[in-house]
Amino acid sequence: MKVLVTGGAGFIGSNFVHLTLRSRPEAAVTVLDSLTYAGNAASLPDDERVQLVKADIVDADTVDALVADADVVVHFAAESHNDNSLDDPTPFLHTNVIGTFTLLEACRHHGTRLHHVSTDEVYGDLELDDPDRFSPTTPYNPSSPYSATKASSDLLVRAWVRSFGVEATLSNCSNNYGPRQHVEKFIPRQITNILDGQRPKLYGAGLNVRDWIHVDDHNAAVWAVIDGGRPGQTYLIGADGELDNRTVMAAIVREMGLEPDAFDHVEDRPGHDLRYAIDASRTREELGWSPRFNDFAAGLRDTIAWYRDNEWWWRPAKAATELRYERIGR
Ligand code: NAD
Ligand code: DAU
Repeated sequence: MKVLVTGGAGFIGSNFVHLTLRSRPEAAVTVLDSLTYAGNAASLPDDERVQLVKADIVDADTVDALVADADVVVHFAAESHNDNSLDDPTPFLHTNVIGTFTLLEACRHHGTRLHHVSTDEVYGDLELDDPDRFSPTTPYNPSSPYSATKASSDLLVRAWVRSFGVEATLSNCSNNYGPRQHVEKFIPRQITNILDGQRPKLYGAGLNVRDWIHVDDHNAAVWAVIDGGRPGQTYLIGADGELDNRTVMAAIVREMGLEPDAFDHVEDRPGHDLRYAIDASRTREELGWSPRFNDFAAGLRDTIAWYRDNEWWWRPAKAATELRYERIGR
């Protein structure tokens, strides 16, 4: 089975490639990735079953040739960070919208099976006490340039399924954590700040809730959708892991041996989504998937250990990331 993984040098994509090699002996993987600041070739396994093609997802000729040669395409490539999208939305339009369009055209041309990886942020946010969670029928209501471009990409996929019969599935997942996540994101930023002797940074009062899932649980669900998902359907992926940011921060500082108040409150993110929460019933019931990492404290401990043991991986990106944050005052 030839699997084309776009964005496979990023956080979730690279963990998907590792999982695929471990669990699918029949699979050969081609990674299409332009190696932006968020991509890292060193995240990929050194294995003859993996080939990296450095190319932009909007490069139609390259995309067409790679799709022609694939049995299935798994589309992770995206600009993925909300704070960056508030600073400059341009690359988000380029990659998330035009990139997805380019890939859809190639899949249409070659009749290739596509799985599109998306986010719960397309649904906007929830009140803290809202009894409803996001489900496949929740109306789209994105808040940031990032989530608006992901919503746009989802709508393109749905239209290409309906109008052109492209055989595509979609999944919308909540916040991932685990190894190889860029140091710009919440959990790795705090861990590496502490390892660097810097104070962690909490946006605003830290009341915002995220629904945490281990990256391997997300990727196992993606495989479940590829194997058994119905074309045109959307599958929500989440592990009932709602926690507010204060609680996650407290767990990080405690686990790393600091006093409970050893962090700074910094200016809040503009338009900051309050709460995400996923109802993954369809994915669980229809595909028989369920999360295996049900102990967040243990998963966080392993993630902290990974960053402690792999400074060579994150160090090159750390100074530039903190400079960017300094510039926007967070
Ligand atoms: P990431 O930023 O770590 O990785 C993105 C990858 O895409 C990088 O390797 C980058 O080099 C590549 N890329 C960016 N622009 C490209 C372009 N123009 N052409 C080719 N490659 C390009 O992102 P991530 O956190 O791994 O997220 C992967 C996907 O999962 C995204 O589509 C994101 O929307 C979605 N998602 C992420 C989360 C999360 O918690 N991180 C949750 C749900 C869904
Ligand atoms: O919900 C899925 C989404 O989760 C994905 O689609 C995105 O690609 C991914 O980046 C993530 O988006 P968030 O904006 O929720 O993740 P981030 O790690 O940037 O922030 C998580 C929470 O922590 C959020 O409420 C903002 C807060 N935060 C973030 C940083 C970087 C802080 O308090 N301090 C920080 O330093």
